[in-house]
Amino acid sequence: MSDDKERTVELHYEGGVLKLPVFTGTEGESTIELKTLLGSTGMTTLDPGFGNTASCSSKITYIDGAAGILRYRGYPIEDLAVHSTFLETAYLVIYGELPDPGKLKEFSDKLRDNADIPADMGTLIDAMPRNGHPMALISSAVNTLAAYYEDSADPEDEDQVELATIRLMAKLPTIAARIYRNSIGESPIAPDDSLDYVDNFIRMTFGDKAPTGDLGDLFNKAVGMLLVLHADHELNCSTATVRVVGSSKADIFASVASGINALSGPSHGGANQAVLEMLEEIRDSGISIEDFLEKVKAREMRLMGFGHRVYKNFDPRSKEIKVLASQILDQHDSPDELFALALKLEAAALQDSYFTERKLYPNVDFYTGVIYRTMGFPTNMFTVLFALGRLPGWIAHYREQLHDPAFRIARPRQHYIGSTERRYPGQG
Ligand code: ACO
Repeated sequence: MSDDKERTVELHYEGGVLKLPVFTGTEGESTIELKTLLGSTGMTTLDPGFGNTASCSSKITYIDGAAGILRYRGYPIEDLAVHSTFLETAYLVIYGELPDPGKLKEFSDKLRDNADIPADMGTLIDAMPRNGHPMALISSAVNTLAAYYEDSADPEDEDQVELATIRLMAKLPTIAARIYRNSIGESPIAPDDSLDYVDNFIRMTFGDKAPTGDLGDLFNKAVGMLLVLHADHELNCSTATVRVVGSSKADIFASVASGINALSGPSHGGANQAVLEMLEEIRDSGISIEDFLEKVKAREMRLMGFGHRVYKNFDPRSKEIKVLASQILDQHDSPDELFALALKLEAAALQDSYFTERKLYPNVDFYTGVIYRTMGFPTNMFTVLFALGRLPGWIAHYREQLHDPAFRIARPRQHYIGSTERRYPGQG
């Protein structure tokens, strides 16, 4: 945030005129600081969904929704998707710079050394409902990390926050893979420290059924790229949740577990599962694409995987993912019917004035489900893969907030529209 207080805007209200400072960021919208608003005018702002509200200053991710731009720490997502591994991107998002080979090795070695989970935590995970939704199960498991690792749960201690960062990054794939294997009645597979981060996750998930050779390389590349594309997205619902929970000085495990819960909703990360279910429903019901879109326009349902609070143009991640989907599906002899359906649905929606006038374009979730399904992930694991990718972003925001000089507990105000004072029945 620039401290150039030269620029101001004036708010004219019944009681007078209030001058409010305007801050200029390095890019993007300017910001009017409202700190003095309530004290000076006795009024608050009402901004449902926080669509016009910057709740903090941040150096992590820049989005220009109108131009379809997404950058982590200044690097365009298109470059990171092609040139960076997930661990390099995670390091960049969390620590602010791309790692040199030495730092990358050190980071990767620490993750390998911490990938195991305590034996009784494994028992606890195994005792959870095996058919329960994996998002509920991983958030519960992540929550318990604070109890297993009390020595890294103090937000006031930088070394503890760093240790918790490593533990979260190292253990989430192990937790996710174990929950998946429980759901299919297979025994867990321990982390293999000879494998890289992504290969290890694929191996812990699919075991001997994991593809090998060229197909294995393609799967590794695809999962790695999808994780890179999901690594951060500034103040989205789950990241804002992590910040809000962290603002109470709750530990990072509790804050990230809350982020996982926020991500599970179908308006957010749960959309990748909802897209696939929508495509299956269209296929199974035999409804035409035209009739389906009519139902969407009549507000009987939403076109899942379309629309975004910030992007009013193509989501740059969806372009990369569409290319990846073609590469993965090309490996199969017969064309994938759901991918073909998704392509037709996208084309029809983009020619329809309902969607173009509202600037509704495919978002990150529109094609990811088709890719994950082809790889053999069950539908209810799709959002878990999103969580694995988003973890560095949640961690980076939690850590950035701890060092923000403007740090305050998050505590919005309300516009009260309930009853005025009433007498308790029988009290006169
Ligand atoms: N299908 C049909 N109409 C839509 C859709 C959609 N997917 N998305 C928005 N609209 C319409 C709204 O009905 C509204 O129309 P109106 O002005 O005539 O009332 C207009 O477009 C603006 O929509 P809002 O709901 O105000 O947009 P908002 O920014 O609040 O919501 C959201 C964004 C939640 C992503 C929404 O577009 C949506 O529900 N999309 C489907 C779910 C989805 O794909 N979520 C994943 C988002 S990406 C992510 O979180 C990773």
